[in-house]
Amino acid sequence: MEEYIKLAVELIKKGWEERKIRVRLPKDNADEIIEIAKARIRAKDKFSKDNLWMDLEGLRYATHEIVAEYRAKRIKPKSIADVSCGVGIQLIFFAKYAREAYAVDIEEKKLFYAMKNAEVYGVKEKIKFILGDSLSKEVVDQIDADIIFSDPARPPEMPERNLEDLLPSPLAIYNAYKHKTDSFIFDLPPQIRRKKIPWRGEFEYIDLHGRLNRLTFYFEPLAKAERSAVLLPRGVRLESNPNLEDIVEWSEPKEYLYEIPQSIDYADLINELFHNVKGELFITLREKRRVLATSDEEVKSEYFKRRYVLVGTVPFHPLRINDFLRREGFRKATLRISIPDKEYWKFRHKVEANLKGERKAYVFQYKNKALIAEPLD
Ligand SMILES: C[S@@+](CC[C@H](N)C(=O)[O-])C[C@H]1O[C@@H](n2cnc3c(N)ncnc32)[C@H](O)[C@@H]1O
Repeated sequence: MEEYIKLAVELIKKGWEERKIRVRLPKDNADEIIEIAKARIRAKDKFSKDNLWMDLEGLRYATHEIVAEYRAKRIKPKSIADVSCGVGIQLIFFAKYAREAYAVDIEEKKLFYAMKNAEVYGVKEKIKFILGDSLSKEVVDQIDADIIFSDPARPPEMPERNLEDLLPSPLAIYNAYKHKTDSFIFDLPPQIRRKKIPWRGEFEYIDLHGRLNRLTFYFEPLAKAERSAVLLPRGVRLESNPNLEDIVEWSEPKEYLYEIPQSIDYADLINELFHNVKGELFITLREKRRVLATSDEEVKSEYFKRRYVLVGTVPFHPLRINDFLRREGFRKATLRISIPDKEYWKFRHKVEANLKGERKAYVFQYKNKALIAEPLD
């Protein structure tokens, strides 16, 4: 089958129609081959291997390799069971550092792909693969691991996230395995409210390439702090410290602006960040997708997502912004504003109309004004 998947990848890349590709493939598995080929093409930035096995759903759920490696290195388990392993990416990285690992999935195809992928990464020998419901007694009885990990499937578009809605539910997994270990790790939807988690442990929010990617909950024996934020791929980490005095204050935008990573905001670590920075910082803007700090003097920190100097403040209207950018010699303007995706380009085209300069701006919305900023780094 591998040869046919490679052929399908090649033909899709050449722009062949699906119906013509299908003729060149074995009839019985043409659908599956084409889906794996599409997943491989889409996955190219997510994994270092180009011969992985996964369907499109498996790809959507699969842990990014950088995140999988980070978490595996953080816990370096002796033995671990991934009780909802999917196509196996996280499990494979755990296995890389473990003596033995267990892989469970309820879907036969997913478990088969996990096995193929474990072979690709060279860790298949260390893993015991179990097909079945990880909540069933037969499966529970087969597992003897120090740590139980689960990255459950999330039903799409659930506005209010609850543990009960995840598949398998972490509550049910805990009840099924608590007689075996007290070390659990759960992947949770990052939007879930921490109050809803009935255990003690650490909430670790991970940003990948500047965007919130994962929330991992580590039970107490594996926890290092109550809350933490990690910026990948750099591997920078910030932990909560309940003994710090609260120094977070608000201010109007000053000369310098700093974008704070979402993971630090979600983990409620802005106070910890301000303590860590040499210089006086204030919060100036807080929206769902971004937080801006500001200062009179330039400040450096490994925790900032981006640093800017404020070059202008104009009324928040595309023509006024465009006018300013044209006068000041800008060519491009990235909008860091909360508007629906569909409207983004319409607005941006207006803002960038007839710009001929060289400089690149970032535009934020502050009340009824546009803050026009230039990146420092
Ligand atoms: C989010 S995916 C896991 C992705 C994986 N961590 C990765 O890196 O590729 C969740 C998986 O849980 C499986 N699952 C759901 N309920 C289950 C159950 N009761 N027992 C075992 N697996 C289950 C689904 O089939 C799905 O493959």
